[in-house]
Order: sequence, then C-alpha cells, then structure tokens
Amino acid sequence: MSAKQKCAERIYLKDYKPADYRIPAIELELDLDREKTRVRSRLTVDRAGDHNRPLVLHGEKLDLVSIKVNGQALDPQHYQRDDTTLTLFLGEPQTTLEIETEINPAANSELNGLYASADTLCTQCEPEGFRRITYFLDRPDNLSVYRVSLRALKAEYPVLLANGNQVEAGEDGRYHYAVWEDPHPKPSYLFAVVAGPLEFIEDHFRTASGRKVALRIYARARDIPQCDFALGALRDSMIWDEKVYGCEYDLDQYNIVAVEDFNMGAMENKGLNVFNTRYVLAQPATATDQDYRSVRDVIGHEYLHNWSGNRVTLRDWFQLSLKEGFTVFREQQFSADHDSAGVKRIEDANLVRTQQFREDAGPMAHPVRPDSFVEINNFYTLTVYIKGAEVVRMLSLLVGSEGFLKGCRHYFAQHDGEAVTTDHFLGAIETACDVDLTQFRHWYEQPGTPQLQVSGSFDPTTGQYRLRMGQDNPDASGERQPPLQIPIVVALFDIEGNPVETELQTKGPKQHEHTLVLTDAVQEFVFTGLTSRPIPSLLRGFSAPVMVQTELAGRDLAVLAGHDNDPFCRWDAGQTLARQEILRWLNDSSVDVLDANFSESFGKTLTADLPDLAFQALALTLPEENDLGEFADEIDPEGIHQARWSVMQALAGRYQDHLLERYHALQANGPYQRDVADAARRALRNTCLAYLMVLESEDVSRLALKQLITADNMTDALAALVPLANQARPVRDEALAFFEQRWGEYPLVMDKWFRAQAVSRCEDTLSRIRTLTQHAYYHQENPNKIRALIGAFAHANPLHFHAPDASGYQFVTEQLLATDPKNPQVAARLASAFNLWKRYEPGRRAQMRDALKQISDAPKLSRDVGEIVERALADT
Ligand code: BES
Ligand code: ZN
Repeated sequence: MSAKQKCAERIYLKDYKPADYRIPAIELELDLDREKTRVRSRLTVDRAGDHNRPLVLHGEKLDLVSIKVNGQALDPQHYQRDDTTLTLFLGEPQTTLEIETEINPAANSELNGLYASADTLCTQCEPEGFRRITYFLDRPDNLSVYRVSLRALKAEYPVLLANGNQVEAGEDGRYHYAVWEDPHPKPSYLFAVVAGPLEFIEDHFRTASGRKVALRIYARARDIPQCDFALGALRDSMIWDEKVYGCEYDLDQYNIVAVEDFNMGAMENKGLNVFNTRYVLAQPATATDQDYRSVRDVIGHEYLHNWSGNRVTLRDWFQLSLKEGFTVFREQQFSADHDSAGVKRIEDANLVRTQQFREDAGPMAHPVRPDSFVEINNFYTLTVYIKGAEVVRMLSLLVGSEGFLKGCRHYFAQHDGEAVTTDHFLGAIETACDVDLTQFRHWYEQPGTPQLQVSGSFDPTTGQYRLRMGQDNPDASGERQPPLQIPIVVALFDIEGNPVETELQTKGPKQHEHTLVLTDAVQEFVFTGLTSRPIPSLLRGFSAPVMVQTELAGRDLAVLAGHDNDPFCRWDAGQTLARQEILRWLNDSSVDVLDANFSESFGKTLTADLPDLAFQALALTLPEENDLGEFADEIDPEGIHQARWSVMQALAGRYQDHLLERYHALQANGPYQRDVADAARRALRNTCLAYLMVLESEDVSRLALKQLITADNMTDALAALVPLANQARPVRDEALAFFEQRWGEYPLVMDKWFRAQAVSRCEDTLSRIRTLTQHAYYHQENPNKIRALIGAFAHANPLHFHAPDASGYQFVTEQLLATDPKNPQVAARLASAFNLWKRYEPGRRAQMRDALKQISDAPKLSRDVGEIVERALADT
C-alpha cells in the first residue's frame, strides 16, 4: 500500500450521521470579477437538538476576510481553520453568521466552483463545488432558501443570473446588480450563478395549473442561431413530465446557459441549468442526427431532475442513483416517446451490456448504491447511472407501468422538500402498489452482473416446453451472493420464425409473450400446447441487466435474427452470430471464408425491406472491438482488430454489389430533413458506405470524398470523414483538410475532426495525434478537446492504444499526468482506460501495470486519479 492510499480518507455509508446544525436560509452577495470575486454570506444557523458540539463548515481554496457572529466580529481564537474546514464554537441554539471570503475564478482550472469559461463566469457545484465559493454545510441533506445578489461591471458582465426568480435589478455607475430568490429549499450542490456577455432566445410555457414560465437559452452571440432546437426540446420535456408523471414546473423562469468549458454534459441547477455547448448547439450543417438526439435527451434529463433530484433530493452521495438512475430512466421514456423506441432500447441495452458489465467486472465494481468511496466524483459511473436506470425499469415491469407511476407520484408527494434515500423510493412503490420489495432491494446492494443459465427441452408427446433457468451472482472476489428477483420476458417462435402462443404452467390465457419472475437460484417454467420444437426469445426488451447463456444453435439464432418481433432480441441474435463468426476468425488463423449461415443471415438483413431503417443499420453493424474482448480469455487487441476487419472485408466483398446498390438507392431525394425517418435512411446508407470503405478501393474513397464535399448536413459529412481517416492514402489528407477548412470556426465540429483522427487505424495515428496536440484548435485546458483527442484514443482506439511497443500507454500516461494538476476529474476519466489491465495477454498486462505504477508514483497525485489507479493496482 502506498503512502498516498493511506492518507486518502475513505467515506462509508454506515457512518452517515445527520448534521449537528441546519442552515435554513442563506443570503449571498457576490461582487464578481475574474481574478478577485468577493463573497459575503449571511447564514441563519440552527443547532439541531441540544448539544455543545461546534459547527464545522466545509471550505476549500478560500481566502477568509472576516467572520461575524450575531453582528460581532469574531476573533481568530474563537474559530479554527484548516485546508478543508472552518470550525466555530457557537453557544446558542440560533445564530446569524456573516462570512466574507475572496476567490479567484480565473485560476480555477478544475472547473469546479466558480470559474471562467471564455469571458463568462459560471459555476459547477455538484457534488462538492459550493465549498469552493464560500464556507458552508456543503452536504445534500442541508436544505436552504437562497437569496443571491450579484454585482459586476455592466460592460463586461451584462447578464447576471442565479437560481430562482429575479426580484430586483439596477445600476450603480459602471456597475449593475441583480437579485435572485429561490423559494424552494435546496441543497448547495444545486446552487448556480452565471455572469457574462451572453445573448438569449426565449419562449413561454404555461403549466397545467396556469403558471406562466419564461424559458430562455443563453449563449455567446455567435452560437445563438444554433439554440432553437434545444429550446423546443425544453418545452417538449415540460409537456411530457406533466402528461406522464403529473409533474409541473415551479418557478417563473427556466434558464439554460451553454458554456464551452464544462467537465460533464450538463447540470440541473434549480432554474438555471448549465450545459456543455455540445448538448445545446445544433444546426444541420454542424450537428449529426446523433447530436440532435443527444441534445434532446440531455435537455430532457436535466429538466426531469426538477422533480427527481431537486424537489426530492438526496440524503447523502451514496444515494446518487436515486436521482441519476431514476432520471436516466425517465429520460429514456421521454426519448422513446419522441424517436424510434426499438432503436433507443437497443442502444441503451447495448451500453449496459458492454460498458456497464465491463465496469462491474473490473476493479471499480460497486453496487448501484455504493457503500464507500474516496472521491465522490469517481462515482458518477455507468453502474450508478445506467444500471440504476435498469433497476428502475425492472421495478416498473414488475409492478406494471400504471402501478409504477402511481408509486412515483406517491414518492414525489410524500417526500417533496426532503432529502431521502433509495429505500424511501422503494417504500413509496411498496405502499402505492401493495408489494413487498425485500428481495428486490438487493439490486441496490450487490455489485456484479447476474449470470443466467437457460436450457430448454421440448417433449413432442405432451406438447410441453420446459425452460430451466439458473442464476448465479458472484461478486468481484467470486463470492456467491443471494439470488435476485429478476423479470425475464420470454416468447416462443416456431422454426420458421412465426410467433407461437402458449399457456404458462397450464395457467392463464394463451399468449405470445410471458413475463417470468425468477426469485430462486434455479427454477423451471413449463409452456404447454405446442405442436413442434420452439425457439425461445429470451430477455425481450432487455428486461433485466443480466448475462444469459443459452445453447441456441446458429440456425435458431438466424431465425430470430430474421423474424423476432422484439427489436432487442432480433438485433441480439444477429450480434451473437456476428460475434461467433469474428471469434472463429480470431481463434483459427487458417479461416478465410465466411460461415455460410452467418453470411446468409447478414445478406437477408441487408436486402430486406424493414420498416425501421435505423434498426436495419444497427442490425448490420458488427460488435465493437472493445466488446469482443469480453469473450476472449486473454485480450489480444491486435488480433481482435484484424479478425473484425477481415470479417467486414469478407462481407463487403461478398455483398459489394448489394451494398453499392443500396447506397445509391438510399440517396436523399430532396434537401435535408431532420426527421426520424430521414435520419434512419441516412443511418442505413452510411452503414453501407462504411462496409464499402473497408474494401479500400480508390473508387469508393472518391465516392466518400464526394459525399463529404457535397453533404448538406453533418451526419453525411462525418460518415464520410471517419472511414476516410482510416485510409492510408492521399485522399485522407484531402478529406481532413477540406473538413478543417470548412468547419474550422466551429469548435464542436473540430472535436469530431480530432476524434476521427484519434480513432484511425492508420499506422501513423499516434504520431499524428502528438502533432495535433499542438494544433491551433486544440486547447489543453478544454475538457471537450481532451476527450475528443486523448479520451477517444485511450477508450476507442484499442488497436493503437494497446500498441505492442507500449507507445500508446506512454502517451496517455504523459497526457494524464499533465492534466491531473489542472483538472483531476478529467484526468481520472483517462486513468480508467487502464482498469482492465488484468484481462490482457501477458505482454500488455505487464506494460499496463507499469503505466499504472508510473501514474501512482507521480508526486502530488489527485485523490480522483489516486483512487482509480490504486483500485486498479490492488485488483487481484
Ligand atoms: N447531475 C449531473 C451532472 C453532474 C455529474 C455534475 C457529475 C457533477 C458531477 C447531470 O444531471 C447529469 O447526469 N449529466 C450527464 C448527462 C445525462 C444526460 C446523463 C452528464 O453530464 O454526463
Ligand atoms: Zn443527472
């Protein structure tokens, strides 16, 4: 154990204690300035109960100017201060505390607390940034009413925003001020202010109970033409939450500000969301269809937090999934109601099955409700977010969507204005639906992915089909955990792919689809009334976040891939066939011909006329290299890359004519349209192009270049650029130069350009990335740029990140260590690229371990990176 690990304090859920004091009200005055911002706070402090313990406030990187208790200046001997706390000895049950501090936003490179992004000052307080603005009880169970006065130079900061409603504004020479009040008690992590030279667009919304709300999106003047779509999405979210959950907005203003420098995607501060520009700005020439979807989903997500997170908030950070998992689920429902629901479900399920399962099998594995952490910022994880959302989805399936909504309404009503735990949420569902969720609770408490073994047997004499299901829940150390309650949606098909209706255990009506609920380690389900051997379609809609092992033969999978009426299962059957084929090429170097069953199945999917072209595009796409690694004993990144590439080449060669024909047939027959159907057409057409491009012919490259140059939308332009960046021939530079020249003035589009080069398979990729770190458009301090170039290389270019000479590891280590002192959160996300070191073949395993050691030995490592690398190194 290193010295660092010893001194980093670990925080445990079991140690939770309510605070000794409460701060029901706070008045804040901020004199805003880039280098010297003055913060005066006036706190109403109530002692909780009768005790004589001191008040311990959080505070970091603050210059203390003065403290007054009940109007009297406090002498230094009456308080104590260290790097992270201010301790005050207060004698009375009620005190008014005035604290004056000074901070330097311009020096805040962590982008946590009050910081500068271009000419704008803005805040990010979740989870623990407020303590970098003023001394406070910076914990989510302390709810306060805020009154905030902002004062700044008019010319530099014409816009002054804070949470709530603006109640006052005025001028004072070269200065002006604005006063904001938020009547809803909130935790400090939801505090926000923004000041800067911003413009806005506006709309109005009337809530169901008649409140008129002004909706605004603020951005820099040059970005204003790109804000309309986001404003529309905000309105759609408000309508949707009223309609589906009966949740209304509760202030007169709803402001969203887009900033270029932001660690995360967006933040749900009460009445004043702050967004990364990439989740606000969208216009056809610069945003892909995927970007539009992301903007809508993130706008929805942050809006939906107004109830799931803000009105009902968290008792402590271990409960993070109570707001994030739940809100991701609500966001997914919102999204499915505005798009191709099948495709959305496949994408979400795929993310869980690949990335979340991988997290859960590695050194960072933790329950949806973790029981300890060193740095809370490291726990905004796939497990908390998307496994958390899957757990909520299972709940909804188990109690039925009507019951679930009733339970949610009960939860919101019961706990409005409170800071609660996941148990309160489950309790509300139990009460509203009269169910017992004792066993279900384990989903929040156990790490790891349940493994399901399923086997079926058909008895032609009785017409019965028996499905035997066993569940196994090992934790990271391989230890068995108790069985979970798992809803498995199942349907049966005959061998021609026709749906079959059956009775379950000779009870109930004959139906096609059945929801089986597992509660024991092993269970058997009997379907009756069959006339021939059925093919089971299991885990329909990805009804639970589990791994399923079946004994389905390739023929059966091909039937499901061609006929299953559940989009997830249909897609999954095709993916399994593709994966088996790629692994066959990987494990046997003499293979050079496609398996006939797989090839035929692919051909049918390619030439079919499916109603949802976006589904068809997904069904034709092979599993990612990183995801294939999960199915190898020891990961050989180069071998996997070659095998996948060879299968793609073989498919493209075999179906070249069909691909080309479809590519041309799917050409737009008019100007760009941004609707679901046209986006689906683009997706399928560009999938055809991606296959054709692996043939590496001059003709196809020219075709792609033409698509890039003539595209009237970013989807088509980028779909041409990405495969062109893989071609080691002059057309690559032609394409990259054109793209840079055409969209150089748009930072978000340049992120795509950096990314395309970062994930290239060309041999010179790393040396080009090194050169790109010096590019005029690259900014080492900007999280979006780091993610686009370094993050994409580390997480999405396995071929070169895992280069056999360790050059990829060295580069990422170098970049990470350069980033860590400036922005630990962003550095920590890079560090996770080494998490699975144990899974690699011996050579890489040793090199990755060396990289982790090198990081761990660096002087002055942040707590964020420290926790990730120590856990990775301790992994046994
Ligand atoms: N509350 C988070 C933002 C956040 C995360 C702030 C971590 C501080 C630390 C917000 O609601 C969120 O979840 N944002 C996501 C996007 C969302 C659509 C999943 C993000 O920023 O990635
Ligand atoms: Zn969120």
